[in-house]
Amino acid sequence: MNGNLPVGMIWAQARSGVIGAGGAMPWHVPEDLAHFRHSTQGCPVVMGRKTWDSLPERFRPLPQRTNVVITGDAATFGRLTDSGALPAHSLPEAVEIAQSHAGGAHTVWIMGGGSVYAEAVDAGIAQLASVTQLDLDASGDTYAPRLDPEQWVLVESEPEQGWQISSTGLGYRFDTYRRR
Ligand SMILES: NC(=O)c1ccc[n+]([C@@H]2O[C@H](COP(=O)([O-])OP(=O)(O)OC[C@H]3O[C@@H](n4cnc5c(N)ncnc54)[C@H](OP(=O)(O)O)[C@@H]3O)[C@@H](O)[C@H]2O)c1
Repeated sequence: MNGNLPVGMIWAQARSGVIGAGGAMPWHVPEDLAHFRHSTQGCPVVMGRKTWDSLPERFRPLPQRTNVVITGDAATFGRLTDSGALPAHSLPEAVEIAQSHAGGAHTVWIMGGGSVYAEAVDAGIAQLASVTQLDLDASGDTYAPRLDPEQWVLVESEPEQGWQISSTGLGYRFDTYRRR
């Protein structure tokens, strides 16, 4: 057990900050999915119930990761347990559960969705944000949290300038922010 791992958030966003539309992500960028898998492999992941529901059934729980899912609904609690997730009543409880299942992990990753990222930022729960910027205009109904420059600093961009080009032709960049 490692009770004090750093807590990071990981998401992909379009230019406007859109992260979701109609319960899904309005793009398919295989390089971002590979980045997500590589970053979170072996680490506990924390998500809201809607993000859990957005995962195709055959991919959940996400393998080689403890999946902690937040719900306020008692009936959903049992359904999540039956599906191989660890349910939690709140974000702080979810992070505590994730910390207690950390094994040799380096980070607890909060993986969405919009409501959970917002709480993680506002409540000061996350210290790190791994953000895939997509060079794309997309409309949607769910947005990334605002990272106030007084509290968050961009520490790394890959590439440092411009974009990498996906096999789909879309430009993308991996940005890392840390809480000051
Ligand atoms: N672009 C990306 O990287 C990315 C990543 C993840 C998700 N997404 C997108 O984000 C969207 C989903 O985000 P969302 O904000 O609508 O939903 P969400 O955050 O995934 O889930 C919200 C649900 O989580 C539970 N919950 C959250 N906070 C809670 C709290 N403090 N106490 C109790 N329960 C809590 C509630 O479940 P109950 O209703 O069961 O009580 C709530 O309805 C989807 O479109 C998804 O595709 C995008």
